[in-house]
Amino acid sequence: MLRIHDLHKSYPTPQGLLPVLQGVDLRLERGGSLALMGESGSGKSTLLHLVAGLDRADRGHIHADGRALHAMGERQLAQWRRCGIGLIFQQFNLVGSLTVADNLAFQARLAGRHDPRWEAELVERLGLGAILGRYPEQLSGGQQQRVALGRALASRPPLVLADEPTGNLDEATADQVLALLLALVEGSGATLLMVTHSPQVAARLQRTVVLRAGRVHPGPGDVP
Ligand SMILES: Nc1ncnc2c1ncn2[C@@H]1O[C@H](COP(=O)(O)OP(=O)(O)OP(=O)(O)O)[C@@H](O)[C@H]1O
Ligand SMILES: [Mg+2]
Repeated sequence: MLRIHDLHKSYPTPQGLLPVLQGVDLRLERGGSLALMGESGSGKSTLLHLVAGLDRADRGHIHADGRALHAMGERQLAQWRRCGIGLIFQQFNLVGSLTVADNLAFQARLAGRHDPRWEAELVERLGLGAILGRYPEQLSGGQQQRVALGRALASRPPLVLADEPTGNLDEATADQVLALLLALVEGSGATLLMVTHSPQVAARLQRTVVLRAGRVHPGPGDVP
């Protein structure tokens, strides 16, 4: 599903180029789930952004869902962002001017994959029925993240990318949101790449890798 080879990415800074990814190799099979760990600043979000098509690598290859992201033009990348992935962030990133119902349907409509039956099922499973008419600022953190899960999954993306999706939630809410995310991803057959700082969260996924010194290393218990 996801094949990353020799990926490099640096950022320009006033002090010169900051090398962040320096030869990342990674494989993730279809339907698999992978936790990406590593110290703050090790480049986890950077790697996720490259896979999401939000930014471009300096060199190296990313094949995702049979497509060569590194060779895509802007239009194809935009299409990948719309249809190929579901993105979940730590900060929820809901659209403040849209109701819960419209936030949910937003990306699926953009992707041309608005499916009212699937959306109704997501609403049911995520327990959002009573708050569909509310706006994000009227929701708790856990509610906002459940909406963000629904939004990410509504277009049935083959690949779900989550950057510390439970990092802003208290422990009980985080457990509940994580369980929902894993159940929904598994049920939809999607592949999951999740950044997390929590070994407990990582242990719920099939594999763990660690980003260190610009490269990916096997995590505890991970067979490369
Ligand atoms: N747009 C940018 N311009 C310059 N430097 C950047 C940019 N984005 C990230 N960096 C730097 O690249 C490095 C990796 O950042 P990144 O956000 O990928 O780390 P991370 O592993 O996600 O960290 P955290 O766990 O704190 O979220 C950091 O040193 C960061 O300061
Ligand atoms: Mg990060």
